[in-house]
Amino acid sequence: MKTYHDPVLAEAAVEGLNVLPGGRYVDATYGGGGHSALILEKLQQGKLIAIDQDKDAAANVPDDYRILFLNQNFRYMRNFLKLYGLLPVDGILADLGVSSHQFDQAERGFSTRFEGPLDMRMNREAGLTARDVVNEYPSEKLADVFFLYGELRNAYKIAGAIDKQRKVAPINTTTQLTALLNKLAPRGKENKFFAQVFQALRIEVNQELDALREFLVQSAEVLRPGGRLVVISYHSLEDRLVKHFMRSGNFRGEIEKDFFGNPLTPLVAVGKTIMPAPEEMERNSRARSARLRIAEKRE
Ligand SMILES: C[S@@+](CC[C@H](N)C(=O)[O-])C[C@H]1O[C@@H](n2cnc3c(N)ncnc32)[C@H](O)[C@@H]1O
Repeated sequence: MKTYHDPVLAEAAVEGLNVLPGGRYVDATYGGGGHSALILEKLQQGKLIAIDQDKDAAANVPDDYRILFLNQNFRYMRNFLKLYGLLPVDGILADLGVSSHQFDQAERGFSTRFEGPLDMRMNREAGLTARDVVNEYPSEKLADVFFLYGELRNAYKIAGAIDKQRKVAPINTTTQLTALLNKLAPRGKENKFFAQVFQALRIEVNQELDALREFLVQSAEVLRPGGRLVVISYHSLEDRLVKHFMRSGNFRGEIEKDFFGNPLTPLVAVGKTIMPAPEEMERNSRARSARLRIAEKRE
């Protein structure tokens, strides 16, 4: 199979799923199918439901009767599993964010490395683009995006610079945006600054945190007791949601207890957070910020 994505923490993630030969698994972020290929190696007569909101992922799906590919947002996972009569499932994997394939295509606008249109949609049929956010959001709302999703301290200055420029002419490309904001980037930390600016826009365009919250809640519902949820995240906003949900079943991270003091949590965390070994980080730059968490549905 053509692999356009070196799967991050592949062994640990698939091991975390505890694949049973006849089980039913969901790869909620199919991408290049790297993780799925490993799941399929362990699966005999079982079923793999592969989801990706990017149509491009369909080209990587092998001709294999065990796979059902759904070109959908994983925030609708439960409904589709119900529709196809595939409930409950034995394990769910999500390797969040954007694939190397998406980053490396200049015309998708995800990367600070290339000149491209300010697009950033994982699903190219969705309405909102980064260009719309940058040119049409009220200045206050734009500042919130940079502050909340980019964790940028100078969010108001960034929004202000954009607002001033767009009154003159629309900002259409990645390079127009980086040239405009260059003066606001801390010296020597330009790469990190632009990564945060682009991350903020991408999260807003794809509504990534809302989709993740909905997906996590549904995961706890569709897993069979003892089934596993494995999530790889790439920044602290995602990881915090995953950590809190696995620990407590809510996004505040507060464990509620019943009358007898038993925790009312749907999942139980399995082991500690796993991070890639230095060799993997060296080999694959995407792996550098990866965090893998595993949880099991309470019996
Ligand atoms: C990091 S890549 C996954 C790579 C994959 N594990 C592999 O081994 O090739 C993330 C993929 O998830 C998809 N994705 C991200 N958020 C999604 C969502 N809410 N619903 C469906 N797909 C999503 C992206 O389009 C991208 O292809």
